[in-house]
Amino acid sequence: MRLVFLGAPGVGKGTQADKVSALYGVLKVSTGDLLREAVRNKTALGVEAKSFMDQGKLVPDSVVIGLVRDKLGDPSCEKGFVLDGFPRTVPQAEELGKVLASRHIGLDRVINFQVSREDVVKRLTGRRSCPKCQATFHLDFAPPKAEGICDRCGSGLVQRSDDQREAIETRLKVYDEQTAPLISFYEQQGRLSNLDGGGSVDAVFQNLTKVLAACKTA
Ligand code: AP5
Ligand code: MG
Repeated sequence: MRLVFLGAPGVGKGTQADKVSALYGVLKVSTGDLLREAVRNKTALGVEAKSFMDQGKLVPDSVVIGLVRDKLGDPSCEKGFVLDGFPRTVPQAEELGKVLASRHIGLDRVINFQVSREDVVKRLTGRRSCPKCQATFHLDFAPPKAEGICDRCGSGLVQRSDDQREAIETRLKVYDEQTAPLISFYEQQGRLSNLDGGGSVDAVFQNLTKVLAACKTA
């Protein structure tokens, strides 16, 4: 199963990608997580990416395309993958098409998560993330068992630097200008499924598995 999860910041791409990865045994490839790891490790790539990310702007295409190309070459992707937050521009989507074609494979489905702006802002401002294992929580909608502590690895939770109001506004604007055009890009290829991402995590996942089951049998 080879999937792309598309949608504005905070729609729940990462949350649902974790669940799909666990259920179907496919690898979650999140460019945001890979970039945050590079920032944490202070690699050359991380140093380059940090200021773009903190401001809520996109990291240059060449950087993320290189990251994803390396990851898709990994044997752990053989069973399939879910791309969370990539592609995010038309040139990234075109490059992904070329990488997959060179391996004689294609995407099964692109899921476009749809959530109101009001809900997205609530989700982002209340999100708390684990800097170590990247697990995600929400102060109201998905609180950790012990306040401020990651359920999965026990580290202290933090607020992502780009989850401040100003960076959120920039991210939403960048999404509208640079990423939303991918909806018609993939619609024209007949690969797009729209999904209502506005319900609870479990309700969204139930609908998602129905869409995925339908595309498996199609
Ligand atoms: P990235 O990490 O991809 O951030 P994003 O796209 O802005 O998306 P988010 O991770 O904020 O949201 P999400 O949809 O994953 O929602 P989540 O599941 O966490 O990218 C960060 C930065 O890296 C970019 O700004 C850019 O600089 C750079 N970057 C990354 N990829 C790039 C690329 N391809 N090209 C260039 N630059 C790139 O959920 C959000 C919150 O809501 C959580 O608290 C969660 O618990 C809660 N929640 C989830 N689902 C529900 C639900 N159904 N009901 C209630 N609460 C929910
Ligand atoms: Mg995410």
